[in-house]
This record gives sequence, C-alpha cells and structure tokens, in this order.
Amino acid sequence: MVVVPKDKKSLRYIYIATVFGCFVLWITVYTPALRPSLPLEDDYMTSSEEEYIPALEPKVIKSLCTPKTFNQGQWIYDPIEIESPLNQTQFAKAAGYHCMKKFAHRCFRKGGNEALRAKKIMDYRWQPDACSFLEMNVEQLADHFLQHPILFVGDSITQLQFESLGCLLGNQFPNRHPPKSTLNGGNSKIKVNELAASDRDTSSIAYIRSDYLIRLDDYKMISPFEEAGSQLGNGENYPWVHALDKFDYIVINTGPHWHPNLQWGPNQSEEELLAAFKHAMSVVLDFLKGKVKSHQKVWIRSTPYGHATCSQFKEPQANPLAPTGKTGEYEWHLFKAFDDIWEDLLSGLVKDERFNMLDISTLSNQRGDAHSKPDADCLHTCIPGPVDTWNKLLYHEIMKKFSI
Ligand SMILES: *[C@@H]1O[C@H](CO)[C@@H](O)[C@H](O)[C@H]1NC(C)=O
Ligand SMILES: *[C@@H]1O[C@H](CO)[C@@H](O)[C@H](O)[C@H]1NC(C)=O
Repeated sequence: MVVVPKDKKSLRYIYIATVFGCFVLWITVYTPALRPSLPLEDDYMTSSEEEYIPALEPKVIKSLCTPKTFNQGQWIYDPIEIESPLNQTQFAKAAGYHCMKKFAHRCFRKGGNEALRAKKIMDYRWQPDACSFLEMNVEQLADHFLQHPILFVGDSITQLQFESLGCLLGNQFPNRHPPKSTLNGGNSKIKVNELAASDRDTSSIAYIRSDYLIRLDDYKMISPFEEAGSQLGNGENYPWVHALDKFDYIVINTGPHWHPNLQWGPNQSEEELLAAFKHAMSVVLDFLKGKVKSHQKVWIRSTPYGHATCSQFKEPQANPLAPTGKTGEYEWHLFKAFDDIWEDLLSGLVKDERFNMLDISTLSNQRGDAHSKPDADCLHTCIPGPVDTWNKLLYHEIMKKFSI
C-alpha cells in the first residue's frame, strides 16, 4: 500500500527521511578497501560473553579454509621491511615476536650470514589459492587461551610450534613459571615448558616433550611416576595424559623419532615399523577417545619432511622433490605414511568433532630453504618461518567457529 501525503508538510518529512535513509545506507554499505593489520572494533560482534567474531580478509567472498584447502596455495614473495644493519630488535618486530629467551632455531640471533638467511626465509608469505582465512589477532587469541588453554605434546618439531606461538603471544604471556602449575604431575623430573599471563597462576600455553606419545616397550600411555621405557634416540618421552584435563585444546604429533628397529620385528624393516606405528597410534587414539571431553579438541599435526643437502635451496620450491629414503634422508620418506595412518584412524570415527588433523605438510614441504642448519639440520626450520604459518592456521581453526 502506498501512502499518499495529504499536505506539503508531510511531503517535506518524506523528503528528509529519504535523504537521511540514503545517507545511512551509504555509510553502512561503503567500507574502504583496507586490509587492517588489526581488525577494527566494529568487526567483532559479541556472540557470547567472552567470544568474538574475528575479521575476515575483506576480499572476494571465498569459502573459509579447511586445513586441506589452506595447504593448496603458494609462497608469495612479500619482503619484510628491515634496515641494514640487521639487528635482533628489528627481526622480532617484523615477525611480531615478543621473546628474547635463547632458542636454537631462532636463526636470526646468530647474526652475519644467518641473519641474512633468516630475512630471506621471512620474505615469503603463504597464500591459499581458493579459500579465505581469518587474520591472526594476537590479543584476541591470548584472551581466548586465558579461558581455553592449549597444550602441545610431541618431539622437538612440536616444540618449534610452541616456541613460535609463545613468541607471537609473548606480550600477553611473559611468565614462564606460573606459581600454581601442576603440569608435571608432581614429578619434578618431568620438565614442562609453560607460558602464563602475569596475573594468572596457571599456564595458557604449555609444551610437554614426548617423542613417541606412548611407551614403546608395551604401548602404554604412561603416568608421571612410571618408567618412560626404551627410546630410539636422544630425547624425552615424558608422560602427558595426566595434564589433559587442564586444557581445552591439545596439539599432538610423533613420527620423526621412529626408525626401523629390532623392537618392531626380526627384519628391522620399514613394514614392521609402520605396522608398529599404526598399532601404537590406535592405542593413543583409543585412550583419547575415552578421556577427551566434548568441550576439548585434539589436533594431530601432520609431519612435513626434511630436505637432504638443504643448503642448495635459496627460496621456496613450488614442486619439491619428496624424499625417497636415500642416504641423508633418514626416514623422512615415511612421514607421509605416518600421516596416512592417522587419517585412516580418524576416518574410522563417526562424526567426532573432538579429533582433527592439523595438516601443514604441503606448505612446509615447499620450504627446503628454511631449515635450521644447512646441511647439518635439514629437518627443523628457523623461527620466524613457516611454523608461524602453522599457528596462523591454528588460529583460523580455533576462531572460525565464532565467525558466520
Ligand atoms: C636496531 O636497528 C634499528 C633501525 O636501524 C635502530 O633504530 C635500533 O636502535 C637498533 N637497535 C639496536 C639494539 O641496535
Ligand atoms: C622377514 O623377511 C623374510 C625374508 O625376506 C620373510 O620371509 C619374512 O616374512 C619377514 N618377516 C616379517 C615378520 O616381516
């Protein structure tokens, strides 16, 4: 029904209302094509008391990334802006790092040519081809971890991810010794890396080193005062399941420490090793299925491979050559098989939201140039580096449930 105005006065009201309406429409619809490094306050909408909707990259509307689609992309040359002479403060600033503790894989600290190499590593940014992802907002992520802490469990590659996240959130979580920590289960021989807010008694981020996740001798999930059992190399196999209750998010991985051994069968073959790995991981998963509550979430991080004689790589490789088991490649060619075993185990679960893969392999396998010590260590990578991208994906996976 159309309302016909009876006199000039109401015509004027309609005129004013129309002009005002157009103005409102203009300011609502028009958003400048900026890419804010920090999302604007308006980009958040409260969905519950403590949760926010993070800002999407304001580009073409694409579907939100899954770990699988996130990995379909490329490393874009996007050089960081730092001045010569390169110093540590500048590196930390360019990476958004707030951490000064010594750590072997923070390559820029070595200075000289290693600082130049560290810059080259940081000069590439991962860009998924066909999906959009939520840009990391460290304040918001730290707020979230205050209520919903995260635990990393695994070998030194998992420690890299913990260290990267700890550096990114270093302003928010400066305390490495929260006074009321119980994460070692009462056994002071168990070392736990922890990070807490300065006004909190307990950790928001923690890392427990466990190279195998399980005791190798009898496939047992061990508790704090039990023996760690035999191991295939230097490292630690600390118990960790006693700490699960304190965390809402858990990221686990094992693989690089598994080698052919008499432990797995008389032939010391790769087949025996893979069968043992499969058996062990099914024990881990069965245990977690009974233990992990519905509000908790476990990611099994995938295992990217190393690159033999990695000093040859000066930039990312879009089509890297996968290892085949040659000398100097250890068991790197089996890492994909380890991931496939996990994919297979998880595919046997019926609609279980608690468990997911955190697949970071394809993007990491392209970074033969980013390893910690060419050619002495061609498996670990420098941080800042591709591992920060793992944490960007982690942020996306955590926050996407709060976005529309
Ligand atoms: C690092 O370099 C920046 C830029 O050149 C400079 O402003 C700053 O003082 C330097 N810091 C140290 C600790 O040398
Ligand atoms: C070990 O190798 C022998 C000879 O290749 C084969 O016959 C046997 O089945 C293997 N055993 C296992 C446990 O794989």
